[in-house]
Amino acid sequence: MLRKIPTSQLGLGMFVESMEGSWFKHPFWRSRFLLTDQEQLQQIVSSDVAHVTIDESRGQGLAISAERAPIMQSGKASVRSPKPIAAKARSPVARPRSYLRDVAKPTLKKLSPRERAAEVRKASGTIKRSKAAVMNMFEDARLGNSVKSKTMAPLVEQISKSVNIDPTIILNIARLKTKDEYTYLHSVAVCALMVNLARKMGAPEAQIQDIGMAGLLHDVGKTSIPDSILSKPGKLDEKEWVTVRNHPQRGHDILSASEGISDIALEVCLRHHEKMDGTGYPGKIPAGNLSIFTRMSAICDVYDAITSQRSYNSPLSASQALAKMQSWSGHFDQLILRNFIDSLGILPVGTLVRLNDDELAIVIGESPKDYSAPIVRSFYSLDKGCEITRKDIDTRRSRSRKVLSVEEPEKWGFSDWSTMSAELLSKPTAS
Ligand SMILES: [Fe+2]
Ligand SMILES: [Fe+2]
Repeated sequence: MLRKIPTSQLGLGMFVESMEGSWFKHPFWRSRFLLTDQEQLQQIVSSDVAHVTIDESRGQGLAISAERAPIMQSGKASVRSPKPIAAKARSPVARPRSYLRDVAKPTLKKLSPRERAAEVRKASGTIKRSKAAVMNMFEDARLGNSVKSKTMAPLVEQISKSVNIDPTIILNIARLKTKDEYTYLHSVAVCALMVNLARKMGAPEAQIQDIGMAGLLHDVGKTSIPDSILSKPGKLDEKEWVTVRNHPQRGHDILSASEGISDIALEVCLRHHEKMDGTGYPGKIPAGNLSIFTRMSAICDVYDAITSQRSYNSPLSASQALAKMQSWSGHFDQLILRNFIDSLGILPVGTLVRLNDDELAIVIGESPKDYSAPIVRSFYSLDKGCEITRKDIDTRRSRSRKVLSVEEPEKWGFSDWSTMSAELLSKPTAS
């Protein structure tokens, strides 16, 4: 049984399921754990976290006299709005806050066409300089020299500034890379994606620089992979795979021998190909030992790789890539992936959304002119508390109907969202 309690009521032996607020504000970003250490307890109590949710089935409960109703049971929301959506017992059983609304959203100033053009010019210059710097860094590493992170720091700052003004500008330019410049611009793109994601997740400004730098340096070990393997159009043989799988360790060796490299950069370099189910490389590290930075880097790295032109495949659209990444079970931290999707303002097909007129809908198509205004199929009225006639809406063209937020299916009681979404996508009318 899950129970939300003020941090002041937390005690040893309780199982912490989640903590309120930005992940970067509290000392334990990996918030599901059994609280056994007095020092840990003190750190949480004295942090900015006001409330935590404990799982009383996995640890000590709150005293029975405490007059607080449980907010959830067995991982499902309590029955506050029990009207069934359909005969197949799919029911939004509560109205939780959107997960994404828990996270601070950066407020972007709307740019005039002239301001935007100036920003595009600035971002192009930043990318050009960053690409040259990464090429030099790779060359240094190839020659056995150490990496000079100090010279890269101003570039991370410029990338970060551009992301702060409007992330779509620099991310769109960084996506347009030829096969030859992939390795270098990939580093720049991962840097920008990491900065954007970190900001979305509420990371402190000082840490955002380190996170961005980690993105820029993450693939420095690729200098150990011959071009013939990097640009091979066909499948790699086992020997070639061994060389590829060695690049995180090689990069870590290079960065360890260099001065001024942060722990975040070292870790991201070594672990960015690890997976949540423990099948990644080089260490097959289980999820419990993968840091928040590693999890962020795995997402940014793959997203840029599959949306870029490579020698062995053609790029996916942003929406296709995100839909694909959501379908790979065991690879990514799904919660961070949802943050990532929100940080890009892209809504992939199959996403559950809430519309401004309090209807739930599923994204059925993208609008290439505006990824944040997709074509959706509404299917449930929150006001009426029942399923409604399905209707397809192009939110970019509609004057009155807009997407309000991305919703977590589980929080609405849609525990088998993959089956349900497949049915919603394939049938314009309910059967
Ligand atoms: Fe890599
Ligand atoms: Fe990479």
